[in-house]
Amino acid sequence: MIIKSIKLINFRNHSTYQLECKEETSLILGENGCGKTSVLEAIYILTRGKSFRAPDRDIIKNGTDYYRIELEYMNGEKNIATYDGTTKTFHILDKKTKRLPKNQKYPVILFLPSDLNLITHSPGRRREYFDRVFSEFNETYSTSLSKYNKALKQRNELLKNDFLTKDALFSWNLILSKYGVDLFRKRQSYIKEINQKLTTTYQSIAKNQDIIELKYKTDIINLNEEKYLKQLEESFQKDSYLGHTTFGVHRDDYIFKLNHKIADGSASRGECRSIILALKFIEADLIYQKTHQKPLILLDDVFSELDETRRRCLIDNFKNHQVIITSVEMRNTPL
Ligand SMILES: Nc1ncnc2c1ncn2[C@@H]1O[C@H](COP(=O)(O)OP(=O)(O)OP(=O)(O)O)[C@@H](O)[C@H]1O
Ligand SMILES: [Mg+2]
Repeated sequence: MIIKSIKLINFRNHSTYQLECKEETSLILGENGCGKTSVLEAIYILTRGKSFRAPDRDIIKNGTDYYRIELEYMNGEKNIATYDGTTKTFHILDKKTKRLPKNQKYPVILFLPSDLNLITHSPGRRREYFDRVFSEFNETYSTSLSKYNKALKQRNELLKNDFLTKDALFSWNLILSKYGVDLFRKRQSYIKEINQKLTTTYQSIAKNQDIIELKYKTDIINLNEEKYLKQLEESFQKDSYLGHTTFGVHRDDYIFKLNHKIADGSASRGECRSIILALKFIEADLIYQKTHQKPLILLDDVFSELDETRRRCLIDNFKNHQVIITSVEMRNTPL
């Protein structure tokens, strides 16, 4: 699916905005705060279903009471999303839905400047990042994740209650073990697939013989649903003292290693950037392998953070995709 144009009304700082896209590479150039990332955000909403950075109520232009996004594809199809302060509606082929239908979701590789710090970010930010990527690999991942998160929130609410009994948690424990094991298995298998390509992809960027690994760090070792449930039940006392759930996949993390040493704290800035670039290239390969669709590439102001070799590498790698780039200045953009 190739985007032909995008139109915005009351979206962030844009009262009205229109962009005609090229089939290959489009560049959105403008000073800080002029609304470049917002355009990518709007595209993301109509391709993935929701923003990557904020709830809809924060997106409506201040002082107005709705927003509207229209995305037209090269094949003539047109998708619209509106939000009126309470309800978001997707208008797809004369039908209205509250969620973007699965068959209208389109894979996207989003590259934000903050992704370049993924290795040194908090575990929570890393989990968020990989959750977004794995949801692109497989829609069932995001379904499991949202069911897990809802149950976790309920269980944590109950744990704040001083007179809680173990039995009151049972139904939530069941849901957590079902989806927790599912998420664990999917994460384990996706990380394995990424690892199979990580070192060679990195070496093609860095032009050296370094070895890169991505380790999946989890408490859940070879657990089935039954054992997961038992662990949750056994942590009842500790959880009720602490007021939150101390066991489960919501505590997972992902650790990058460079030549068998933990990259956070030992890898240089340049090495970290090359690792992230390699990760992005692999994401695009795996999405294509799994969905048979070439992802749309959204590059948000990342060129200013990269040196000439890595910029060229990025452009060359994605030359067969539709790419939309934002930048503050032309100088850093190899187009
Ligand atoms: N709901 C809103 N209503 C009006 N303006 C908003 C709203 N939310 C954010 N803004 C403003 O919109 C502007 C555009 O933000 P955006 O992040 O898209 O800018 P940008 O061009 O990507 O900037 P930078 O180059 O600094 O990354 C900012 O000035 C921001 O403060
Ligand atoms: Mg921006």
